[in-house]
Amino acid sequence: MRKIFVKTQNVKNFIALINSLQNKPDGVSRMALVYGEPGLGKSRTALWLAAQNDAVYIRSANLMSGRWFLEELVEELGEIPQYWTSELFKQAVNKLIERPQMIIIDEVDYLAGDQKTIETIRDIHDKTNVPIIFVGMTLAEKKLQKYRHLYDRLSEIIQFKAFSVNDVQDIVTQLCEVEITEPAVNFIHTQANRFRQIVRIISRLEAVAKTNNIELIDENIIKEILKNDSRQSFENNKRAKHIHAG
Ligand SMILES: Nc1ncnc2c1ncn2[C@@H]1O[C@H](COP(=O)(O)OP(=O)(O)OP(=O)(O)O)[C@@H](O)[C@H]1O
Ligand SMILES: [Mg+2]
Repeated sequence: MRKIFVKTQNVKNFIALINSLQNKPDGVSRMALVYGEPGLGKSRTALWLAAQNDAVYIRSANLMSGRWFLEELVEELGEIPQYWTSELFKQAVNKLIERPQMIIIDEVDYLAGDQKTIETIRDIHDKTNVPIIFVGMTLAEKKLQKYRHLYDRLSEIIQFKAFSVNDVQDIVTQLCEVEITEPAVNFIHTQANRFRQIVRIISRLEAVAKTNNIELIDENIIKEILKNDSRQSFENNKRAKHIHAG
């Protein structure tokens, strides 16, 4: 499989969101939310865009407090974190005023239960005006809605959607090292529309093509491979249950 970053429609929407945030007139908030189902590429895209835009990427963690968040932020800004929370906050703000950088906060669902952390992030935005993008799961939007002051500042919200046939076509042709016919790609789209599933199918196809010297995979071959795989996993499950019961 090729190690390529594919620009799916979701990726293009995320890029457009960043451009729009960066071009907001003064006085308009520069906060945004990107959310969606697991496995659609939110984190990989956030990391890729952070590198492209010289942004700070922070992955929230379960039980992350305001102080912990600030420590991570200050470290990412290249400073040694101070001890007191108030000092940490000033450190982050001063550094961002001196050298503004966009901040992308992934897995925001973990922070959504902690009012203090959410308010700290809002204060950082208000004091520095740097773009701040939250990335989260499907429920992230609902979870953030309860913080009115924050929610009102989200000037852009986009949802990562399940892949269209065109997306799957782009992903398969760019990542798969074996050629696949268009009807075969359409069939993949009926079976999988998340990155993790598609990547799994591609690596399976590449392995079968290699062992059997196949140069072009068509719809019949792919159906055969996937049918065998699901029969195999059914047999394995049955065996596992048998061993368990026995
Ligand atoms: N644009 C892309 N090009 C190539 N591979 C990608 C792309 N986006 C995601 N992937 C791959 O797909 C898999 C799932 O992506 P990722 O972890 O970013 O999804 P996610 O939406 O953040 O999921 P979760 O909600 O579970 O955190 C990863 O293995 C990732 O490397
Ligand atoms: Mg993720």
